[in-house]
Amino acid sequence: MTSEYKIKDPDLAKDGEVKIRWAESHMPVLVRLRREYSDKKPLKDVKVSAVLHVTKETAVLVKTLKEWGADVYLAASNPLSTQDDVAAALVENGIRVFAWRGMSSEEYFWAIRRVAMAEPDVVVDDGGDLHAMIHSEFPELGGRIIGGTEETTTGVIRLRALEREGRLLYPIIAVNDALTKFLFDNRYGTGQSTVDGILRATNILIAGKRVVVAGYGWVGRGIANRFRGMGARVIVTEVDPIRALEAVMDGFEVMSMDEAAAIGDIFVTATGNKNVIVRRHMDKMKDGAILANAGHFNVEVNIRDLEDISVSKRRIRDNVEEYRLADGRRLYLLAEGRLVNLVAAEGHPSEVMDMSFSNQALSIKYLIDNKGKLEPKVYRVPKEQDSLIARLKLETMGISIDELTKEQVEYLSSWKI
Ligand code: NAD
Ligand code: ADE
Repeated sequence: MTSEYKIKDPDLAKDGEVKIRWAESHMPVLVRLRREYSDKKPLKDVKVSAVLHVTKETAVLVKTLKEWGADVYLAASNPLSTQDDVAAALVENGIRVFAWRGMSSEEYFWAIRRVAMAEPDVVVDDGGDLHAMIHSEFPELGGRIIGGTEETTTGVIRLRALEREGRLLYPIIAVNDALTKFLFDNRYGTGQSTVDGILRATNILIAGKRVVVAGYGWVGRGIANRFRGMGARVIVTEVDPIRALEAVMDGFEVMSMDEAAAIGDIFVTATGNKNVIVRRHMDKMKDGAILANAGHFNVEVNIRDLEDISVSKRRIRDNVEEYRLADGRRLYLLAEGRLVNLVAAEGHPSEVMDMSFSNQALSIKYLIDNKGKLEPKVYRVPKEQDSLIARLKLETMGISIDELTKEQVEYLSSWKI
């Protein structure tokens, strides 16, 4: 047990340990990689500061980093996503955790500052708040940081902006952009866990409901498809004409949010953008409409607008706030507009995080193995790493695939008739 931590309750450790074991039994690729390098200690003397959702799956990742020799500091990447029992178990396992569910905004940034001040060699982030804080408040750390990783689309967008401005201080591996990450985590992970979060919060029937999904990126596709699978009539809104067309040809109804606002029973934002649902949309919504967000930050539904048009607000169930409007209509906001899958449910299932966090672990190892050779740029994960993770995942699922014959390789690389 480490003496450096700030969590809700160390006595919850036993429950957390059981959850972590459950996650481990569903994350065979990461556990296999952990074992493969545990003797070599590739992260010996490496200090890692991480800002990630403190879940049972994150526990499997940080325990792996520790097993590989790292000293790990961990803060939460959302004030409401921490699983307090898991945080307690991690402290018992020697991880320096600064996270609890229900942190205020000040506490959230305090914790991120705390892990930045640990003077890390490697910076792991989900959303970019830790990278942004180091760049704005602790730029002097840039010189000692070997590199960093970024878990999600929104974080990668922010880091690319820093790179464009020529201000990026250390190399970044965009873990989000690995095929074995976004094709599965963003799509199937968020798809399932968003439905899970909405159901745990509301317990309403999905069949027959009009579900409006804003954004048809990887996350939006997953959500739209899972709701369709449960019998919802799904409407997609988009700003990108190609993605909108794709949604049309995937069989969804596509329209503007101005049109969808009056029709939807459930609204789910998944854009990574701000002010996707604003007052003029709320003005048209049906009594009882439910609003949820799956994008990284709580800026997709304009909560200030919702507060402004409401005459009262009350919590009616865990993670459900009822806003009563002057005309008597009620709108329901889930999880305070934060990522509904992590606040009202447990985030992505372990099987999906197995690939995302194997990418994290191998990317951190890659940064150390290539210390001094990388520039302050945003890099994609090495292609071989992506293929390795896909191959190992299939293997652990007991699935074999065909191999190209020599004749087929030659045929595919030739132009001749
Ligand atoms: P993406 O870039 O693939 O898709 C975003 C889509 O939103 C794009 O097609 C874009 O055109 C569309 N869009 C932008 N502004 C819009 C607007 N005003 N109205 C309608 N559509 C709009 O990104 P992604 O990988 O799908 O990620 C989306 C968000 O989800 C990001 O914030 C990401 O970090 C987050 N994310 C959350 C989880 C989770 O566990 N909840 C997991 C992965 C990613
Ligand atoms: N992001 C989405 N789901 C997650 C999970 N289960 N653990 C950590 N980060 C996540």
